[in-house]
Amino acid sequence: MKRRSHMTVQLDWNNLGFAYRKLPYRYIARYKDGAWQTGGLSEESTLDIGECSPCLHYGQQAFEGLKAYRTKDGHIQLFRPDQNAARLQRSAERLLMPAVPTDLFLHAVKSVVRANSDYVPPYGTGATLYLRPLLIGVGDIIGVKPAEEYLFVVFAMPVGNYFKGGLTPTNFLVSEHYDRAAPYGTGAAKVGGNYAASYLPGKLAKEREFSDVIYLDPATHTKIEEVGAANFFGITKDNTFVTPLSPSILPSITKYSLLYLAKHRLGMEAIEGEVPIAELDRFAEAGACGTAAVISPIGGIQYKDKFHVFYSETEVGPVTRRLYDELTGIQFGDVEAPEGWIYPVD
Ligand code: PLP
Ligand code: COI
Repeated sequence: MKRRSHMTVQLDWNNLGFAYRKLPYRYIARYKDGAWQTGGLSEESTLDIGECSPCLHYGQQAFEGLKAYRTKDGHIQLFRPDQNAARLQRSAERLLMPAVPTDLFLHAVKSVVRANSDYVPPYGTGATLYLRPLLIGVGDIIGVKPAEEYLFVVFAMPVGNYFKGGLTPTNFLVSEHYDRAAPYGTGAAKVGGNYAASYLPGKLAKEREFSDVIYLDPATHTKIEEVGAANFFGITKDNTFVTPLSPSILPSITKYSLLYLAKHRLGMEAIEGEVPIAELDRFAEAGACGTAAVISPIGGIQYKDKFHVFYSETEVGPVTRRLYDELTGIQFGDVEAPEGWIYPVD
């Protein structure tokens, strides 16, 4: 394949961290009078919305997170963006917002990547272009009811690691006093309220030098649900990939991809099931997985006064490493992808 031209932007690609950076272009479309109007790229990074917009008062909003990857030959590709479109549609349904059609979602994402292509990090740095689609209810509604107008926005920024260790394990704290979502609440929808609820427990964990919180199931507080900004997985001592099944966690696209790869590429047993917090001894390795987190190995988990170490506090375990290599190999175009997982952008 032809090599693409060189980029014009110079950034410290290897040390980006996970931080907002204002890029030249974002995509904005408005929903009005029962239909999506024609959207387009904008150079304006602020939104002009009414003070009474339901997204501001009642949290009527949902968002997504996905990445664009630079391949070795300089092309740009997306990883399973159709799955993000589908999840945004499910989140919208839960909060009585209009669905963003998959075609509009993909068009907006690709337009933003192309318009900001100078900011897609070079291959080999591990950095990527993170895309943040956002759906918000706007207009003048003071009663607790859904908006009549909506904005769909997609913006982007180049990012590195979400958890500071990258592939070096970090430690996590089990939340004893706070839940992120209710048993039949909005935990499975990617809506801001779940994240607002996670601010305080997240701060308390970070003050104690933990990377993030691990939440337990809100009904019984006996089973692992997920991490504040990622899903959880463990590798049992007999080599089974296990990740929690619960109606109150985010159905992670990374986690479903890993379930598939563990089974079909690594020949492992791979299941969604219960992960009792009392049974951490079952696991030889554990990790957090997600778009931002990629695969972040968990060194140890603090639960009440006990600290449980998995493979090592300083080194990634061998199975986690193989899963990481397979997943990121596919995302950056070095490993053949299962059919339909990769969407070329240019
Ligand atoms: N769980 C939570 C709470 C998240 O914020 C994320 C990130 O999107 C995930 C799980 C992982 O989901 P995905 O793999 O689709 O990015
Ligand atoms: C993601 O991985 O895309 C997330 O949404 C996690 C976090 C930054 C909220």
